[in-house]
Amino acid sequence: MNNRNVLVTGGAGYVGSHACKALSLAGYNPICFDNLVYGHEWAVKWGPLEKGDILDRAQLDHTLGRYQPLAIMHFAAFAYVGESVIDPGKYYRNNVCGSLTLLEAARDHNIEHVVFSSSCATYGIPNKLPIVEDTPQQPINPYGTSKLMVESMLGDFSTAHGMNYIALRYFNAAGADPDNAIGEDHDPETHLIPLVLDAASGRRHDVTIFGTDYDTPDGTCIRDYIHVSDLADAHVLALEHLIKGAGSQALNLGTGVGFSVREVIESAQRITGLRVPVVYGKRRPGDPAALVSDPSRANEKLGWTPKFRELDAIIRTAWKWHQKQASSK
Ligand code: UFG
Repeated sequence: MNNRNVLVTGGAGYVGSHACKALSLAGYNPICFDNLVYGHEWAVKWGPLEKGDILDRAQLDHTLGRYQPLAIMHFAAFAYVGESVIDPGKYYRNNVCGSLTLLEAARDHNIEHVVFSSSCATYGIPNKLPIVEDTPQQPINPYGTSKLMVESMLGDFSTAHGMNYIALRYFNAAGADPDNAIGEDHDPETHLIPLVLDAASGRRHDVTIFGTDYDTPDGTCIRDYIHVSDLADAHVLALEHLIKGAGSQALNLGTGVGFSVREVIESAQRITGLRVPVVYGKRRPGDPAALVSDPSRANEKLGWTPKFRELDAIIRTAWKWHQKQASSK
């Protein structure tokens, strides 16, 4: 195969940049397409950066024409669940209209393979755990709905235009590149692990636990934290599965093990050797009590298993990255 170009929308973002690294290590040439609204230029290290917006058809045509990629990995999206409730139009325009613009451009440039960054947010509040791919998808916020709508569009484009796709539904992306070249850097930061580390190091005064009265063993929410490099590896495996002729499908990406907010804080205290000041707050609206994946289909179809199985190991990489960031700011 001569053409090793893969267009990575959102390649300057958290998961997208780790996918660019994984693609490069696997011998592909990641072309990062990112408007840099939330992405970072410093995170683009493994291929060219085409600064552009997925809503800009002319720019997409220009980039697709120039590189003629064999596939697209589509990460570009707004991803603040709370903001999506307050400003749904922003999410439907960017995540849905942007993805439609991208898919139409991909169709017209005869792109055959798409790996899509979907989310466990498409399931909403599951009636049973662990969550399998056939668990009903009933999102409870516009962010989750926007991801589900893109999955539907992919299904229809796949049927109509023979564009095969794999939608990867991730649980809670966490951690940082083990070589510490890239990591999580959101502004504003809303995710638990970076906030806990900020509180440990004194960058924040404390961290608020959103709710201690959930129907879980310690009363706090349970999530399935999956290392970002494991997510990145799954994207490369999904791409290769499509290249080998796999049909369109959706796969969960998680470890299959859940940890509570209190357990995350305890792990962070173990890894950092520092105390995490905690404040007890009310439940955050829209938070399901527990989200845990059944990742066995991804294992079966892609041969994928997470390398980072322990929460401590995930948080150790996040802490290394946190310290590097802190020393550079
Ligand atoms: N939490 C706190 N305090 C905080 C921040 C978070 O207690 O300051 C809790 C939340 O209530 C939740 C857990 O920590 O129970 C994890 O929260 P995150 O904000 O880190 O992650 P979410 O589970 O809310 O969100 C993740 C992804 C979203 C995706 C969602 C699906 O970041 O993109 O899972 O539920 F939509």
